Amino acid sequence: MNNFEFYNPVKLIFGKGQISQLTNELSQYGKKVLVVYGGGSIKRNGLYDEVMSLLKEANMEIHELAGVEPNPRVSTARKGAEICKAHDIDVVLAVGGGSVIDCTKLIASAAKYDGDPWDFVIQKAKPQDALPFGTILTLAATGSEMNAGSVITNEETQEKYGWGGPFNFPKFSILDPTYTISVPRDQTVYGIVDMMSHIFEQYYNEATNTPVQDEMCEGVLRAIIDNGAKLVDDLENYDLRETILLAGTIGLNNFLRLGYQGDWASHDIEHAVSAVYDIPHAGGLAILFPNWMRHNVHVNPARFAKMAVNVFGVDPAGKTDEEVAYEGIDRLSAFWTSIGAPQTLADYQIDDAKLELMADKAMANGPLGKFVKLEREDVLAILKASL
Ligand code: NZQ
Ligand code: ZN
Repeated sequence: MNNFEFYNPVKLIFGKGQISQLTNELSQYGKKVLVVYGGGSIKRNGLYDEVMSLLKEANMEIHELAGVEPNPRVSTARKGAEICKAHDIDVVLAVGGGSVIDCTKLIASAAKYDGDPWDFVIQKAKPQDALPFGTILTLAATGSEMNAGSVITNEETQEKYGWGGPFNFPKFSILDPTYTISVPRDQTVYGIVDMMSHIFEQYYNEATNTPVQDEMCEGVLRAIIDNGAKLVDDLENYDLRETILLAGTIGLNNFLRLGYQGDWASHDIEHAVSAVYDIPHAGGLAILFPNWMRHNVHVNPARFAKMAVNVFGVDPAGKTDEEVAYEGIDRLSAFWTSIGAPQTLADYQIDDAKLELMADKAMANGPLGKFVKLEREDVLAILKASL
């Protein structure tokens, strides 16, 4: 493995009833809070009322930004930053899924910046300061609740990029599986696909000698497959929700990437697809990732075969590594299809009209990937295989 430093300052507050700690945590940072949330799921499941009554009980001055979009937009973050500046907000609270949290990360930094928030996303400027923020997570998927990443869409230019930095870590994140019970089946499936994809991105990495990390990745993947398969047909099962919630956080809180960065080309390609077509992030991943794998088996068949055997239970007897690898990828596709994930871009009515545009957007910052470097023709081949 490569030399590494592990740093994760997020206070993770996990379990039933942990919302009781909300105002203790928030009030360390001041009285004026901006509550950021999405399109209304928290109003329907009662969480909004619960949060508001706790904030009022603690005499906090409450401001709100509602309507953060799935694939959150820079225009919404601009509005949030303006509210923070106009009302001298002390602390921001994200209540929602990855989109709400990612938007909150940009708001927190933009609140302390005179320029356009998009500058941070395209790395034109680096935050020098940010408001503190906490999160209450309502959807198991991205790991944003315990990492410093944020993915933002510019709807005018049809660009979607990830950005990050030390100010993007939440001060605390409250994860109560109860709040994820209302997540509908399709979003539950997307969450499972996303967290598995994060682990694949890290498993296919640029390092050697990673047996401890490999075991951790393979073990978490097996737990997601076992429990996720049951959860999609038993959405109100608390224990299954609890397991999947923890898996999503572990999947992308840097714990599974000790000593390497991981590949991340599939994410870059997906971000280009959802920048152009505004489809759900993990819907895109479910389509693209198996094709990224098939495109790259030849680079290191033994690595793909290891995953096939240890995670997907492929029997290697009498087979070449390549044969085992392809069987594993087929089992992954079959699993995702069995839980209802999309299989082809056609499932989102996407045809070949904008393949070149998506490839250009994916390549905007140069070749992709660390496990294997992808050039533009590789990206096009993966997109074509996904039609
Ligand atoms: O907007 P509301 O009404 O809240 O509804 C949301 C939204 O429609 C709904 N939802 C959330 N919690 C719910 C619920 N519905 C019922 N009950 C609940 N408890 O689910 C829908 C999707 O929410 P969203 O936040 O968009 O989903 P997710 O958490 O999958 O986040 C996706 C975004 O995160 C980015 C993606 O690119 C995408 O923009 N990512 C962020 C990462 C990070 N920061 O580390 C890494 C990921 O790879 C990913 O790229
Ligand atoms: Zn993802």
